[in-house]
This record gives sequence, C-alpha cells and structure tokens, in this order.
Amino acid sequence: MTKASQLEAKTVSEAGKSHLVNGNKSSEHEPTFRRRHVLDLDDFSVDEINAVLQNANAMKEVLQRDIKKVPTLRGKSVITLFYENSTRTRVSFEQAGKILSADVINVSNSGSSAEKGESLYNTALTLQAMNADIIVVRHPDSGAPHFLSRFLDASVINAGDGLHAHPTQSLLDMYTIKEYLGEIAGLKVVIVGDMLYSRVARSNLWGLTKMGANIVLCGPPTLMPTDFINGGKDMEGHPFSAVTIEPNLEKALEGADVIMTLRLQLERQRAGHLPTLREYSKIYGINQKRLDLAKPGALVMHPGPMNEGVEIDSEVAHGARSVIEAQVTNGVAIRMALLYSVVTPGRESI
Ligand code: CP
Repeated sequence: MTKASQLEAKTVSEAGKSHLVNGNKSSEHEPTFRRRHVLDLDDFSVDEINAVLQNANAMKEVLQRDIKKVPTLRGKSVITLFYENSTRTRVSFEQAGKILSADVINVSNSGSSAEKGESLYNTALTLQAMNADIIVVRHPDSGAPHFLSRFLDASVINAGDGLHAHPTQSLLDMYTIKEYLGEIAGLKVVIVGDMLYSRVARSNLWGLTKMGANIVLCGPPTLMPTDFINGGKDMEGHPFSAVTIEPNLEKALEGADVIMTLRLQLERQRAGHLPTLREYSKIYGINQKRLDLAKPGALVMHPGPMNEGVEIDSEVAHGARSVIEAQVTNGVAIRMALLYSVVTPGRESI
C-alpha cells in the first residue's frame, strides 16, 4: 500500500483504529505530532519535526497524481487571515486545504473590516463564530499568532509574524534539504543576508539546529542578531551551540552543503543598516564564482520573493544547483501535512 493510499484509508477510518488500516503495522517507533497550534519551531521536538516531514511525503504522492484530491479534511474549514502580502504561503495553504477537501476562505486586511478598525481579537472571534477549524495567520506584529492561540478553539498556524517566526517555511526548507541530500544532521548550512529582521532565518535556526545541521551565518554586522545567537550558545545543550557567525562570505561558503540566501528587505538601506544595495550585492551576493566555493552538489535555496541581482544572481537563482522552485512545490506538501496534523493531533504519522 502506498503512503498516499494509506492517507486515504486513514481518512475513512476512525482515529482510534488508524493502525488497522496501516496493514502490517511496524513495531518501530513512529514519530507523532501532538499539537493543536503551530506557532514556531522553538518548542518542537525532533520527533514532531520528523512527523511533519514524514506526513509530507505522503502528501507529495498525492500532489504527483493526475487527480489531486483526497477527502481527508472534508467538512473542515480553513481560514487564511493575512494582514501582510504573500504569494507562496497564502496560495500554498489555499491549495493544500482544497486538495484535502477542506472549505478554504481567504481573508486579507485589505477589503475586510480590519480596514474599518476592527481589532485582531474581534476579527478572530468573528471567524471562529463561523466555525473555522483552522486559522492560518500572517501578521506584521511578532506574537500575533500566539495571542490568537490563547483564546481560540480553532487551531492556529503561524504563516509569518513580524520578525519573529515563519515555521512552515522552515519545515518546507528542511523537507527540501532531506529530499535532495538525504539527511540534515552533519550538513553545513550557510545562511546569508539579513538575519536581524528575518523570521525565516530565526525559524530555520531552531529547526535546522534541532535536526543536527551545522549552521554558519554570514551577513552585515548591522543585520546580525549577535546577542540572540550568543545568548543561546552560552546555555549548555542549547541547539545554537552548533551555530557559527562568519563575516567573510568566501570563508563561510567553503565546503557548504546548502546555501540559503535571504531576501534583502530593501527598506533596511533607508533605515541606515546598509550603505548601498550595490555594495551589499558585491559583498554578500551569491554569484557563480562564490557558488563554486561550496561542495559540488551544494543546494541553493531562497524562501522568496527574490531580489535578483541583489542577494542572488539570476544565473544562480535559475541554475542547476537551485532548488528554489522545489521549495515552493514542497511548501504545498508541508502545509497539507500541517493542516492534517493539527486536526488529528496524537495520531501516528502516515
Ligand atoms: N516565503 C514566503 O513567505 O513568501 P510569501 O511572502 O510569498 O508568502
């Protein structure tokens, strides 16, 4: 039985009987996802991360079919509540929900009563009163999804909050790394760019270090949260002990397995963090010559949207080592896995 058919079989079974539809249930340990909300990866166990990645494998099989539809979330409603612009995250959550047969409703700041001054609290209560099972929220304020999770009965999934966290991006990044390189543990992952304002970098710091990657951070000193990193490194057993800060990009890239370049938020120049974009690109831009310093099979990743010609050259962004489009495809599988997991917490992985 394929993973995808297991998924369908499970959707028609009762949760408590899920082992019956697995056929020959393995006695090996199966990673299990036990949470109702997905707010960040700082409190995720390795087991829970593995459960999401494993469930995403089954979801990816569904994505590769001619008819991409399973009844898993039939009768459930998913509301995407986006107070910031998004292409990848919003569309992939919508697609994920629809493939799983959920009813998906998109609400954005623009055009909603938020424009008339309705608070986040009242907006969320209103959506819950319409029986939302899952609310996927993106908000410019760090902590907004945590705030919602304190009073909503619905599951809350963080789709990016301020400069705090973007856990679903990190999960899809880890899935992509595993897909191409097999394992995450022991890999040298170089993250380049604006670490200070990047919620993607923060979630990846938690996720990748928990999974055993050795992370090297490289970026302008004005955009490096040195206290955040070193505060963790000073604590015994803290995952950030596997993080190094290397200001020289050429040195950082030597022997890299993965190069993850971040979007330069262009407003940082206006805020005085950078002299010019040209200088930033000259010192921190990923071009072919710099890519050659990494391992021959190194992956080039970018969460998007990209400023081509600033943090990454076009020939690298669209070159043979780039997995940027695979990240987008895997984002749908990861978000399907998360929607499935939060409504069935405690169930073994598919
Ligand atoms: N990576 C990411 O969050 O992209 P969007 O802003 O397009 O969702």
